[in-house]
Amino acid sequence: MKLNRSLFLAAAFAILISGCTKKGDQEAQQAGPTGDEILVGEVLSLTGSEATFGTSTSQGSKLATEEINAAGGVKGKKIRVITLDNQGKPEEAATAVTKLITQNKVQAIFGEVASSRSLAMAPIAQNYKVPMVSPSSTNPKVTEQGDYIFRVCFIDPFQGQVMAKFALDNLKIKKVAVLRDVKNDYSVGLADFFIETFKKGGGTIVLDQSYSAGDIDFKAQLTAIKGKKPEAIFLPGYYTDVGLIARQAKEIGITVPFMGGDGWDSPKLTEVGGSALDGSYFSNHYSTEDKSPRVQDFIRKFKAKYNIVPDGLAAMGYDGANVYYDALKRAATLSTKDVRDALAVTKDFPGVTGMITMDKNRNPVKPAVVLKIVDKEFKYQTTVNP
Ligand code: PHE
Repeated sequence: MKLNRSLFLAAAFAILISGCTKKGDQEAQQAGPTGDEILVGEVLSLTGSEATFGTSTSQGSKLATEEINAAGGVKGKKIRVITLDNQGKPEEAATAVTKLITQNKVQAIFGEVASSRSLAMAPIAQNYKVPMVSPSSTNPKVTEQGDYIFRVCFIDPFQGQVMAKFALDNLKIKKVAVLRDVKNDYSVGLADFFIETFKKGGGTIVLDQSYSAGDIDFKAQLTAIKGKKPEAIFLPGYYTDVGLIARQAKEIGITVPFMGGDGWDSPKLTEVGGSALDGSYFSNHYSTEDKSPRVQDFIRKFKAKYNIVPDGLAAMGYDGANVYYDALKRAATLSTKDVRDALAVTKDFPGVTGMITMDKNRNPVKPAVVLKIVDKEFKYQTTVNP
């Protein structure tokens, strides 16, 4: 009994001590890097059905990191990014962020692409006061998780509006069916924002259907949609599902175009969907056809390094990292608080996806582009300013 009791006391004491050290560690981490490196943790989907999102994004951020290090780093320190795969799972994303912050002692987090995963990560980064920069999570709730959470992309109320107006004004369409992924915060939000503007502009939603990411048979929803004779189908999902859905739609004789958002952006989209997506439209963060020197210069550098044309994700990964590096340069010290403060006042940063200025909610105000799929290629249609 006595022994047990002293064991218990020893255990309690150990917990207490480690609790104290943890707090001390945390404060040291927040004070800034001690060595000659600035460590950053990156969490992305490098495998799974959204593997191209993570792969492209990390290629973009890696290019930015190599450039800043080649130019001497920041405040005399080089930057090292540790990238972890979350397999496309929110739980894995949360575990990875905790590990990067508590074990690797990173000074910032880059990621995620998917809003559902950013939502799993953000409360952890916020809790440890480690700035997090999402390159491309567009759901409004992401940055609402706290004042250490930033993004470098536009948000879905704007993206939904862009596609609703494009349908009404450019395609002259009044009857649309919606097919959303109910397991995906991005998809659910974007569907709602699209519907809001579309209805306000005099449009009608003839049917609002749903699926769950990873489903393989969409015939029931598509048959119901076909029966309502829409002029287009709004499908705010991710590329693997979108490709499958478009194929099955074609099989049952649906000929109207699909419309979607940035989640379509992948070289795999037309690999999965084949020609079923020809004539369809989606909104995105950038177009490779943009003739501005900044964009063409980025494409040239990216091609030289990876031998492929960068998609929007790669461009956002590049911009996300560069916005953070710019804040490091401007920050009074490298403490996470000072870097956070510098990020918050980011103004007219010249990104390849547009000028980036943080609003008071840590969301940039930026234009979107609309692309059309022609012969399996993404063709620039128009730019929409906020
Ligand atoms: N915006 C999407 C989301 O928030 C992610 C995404 C961005 C996908 C860019 C493709 C391209 O979930």
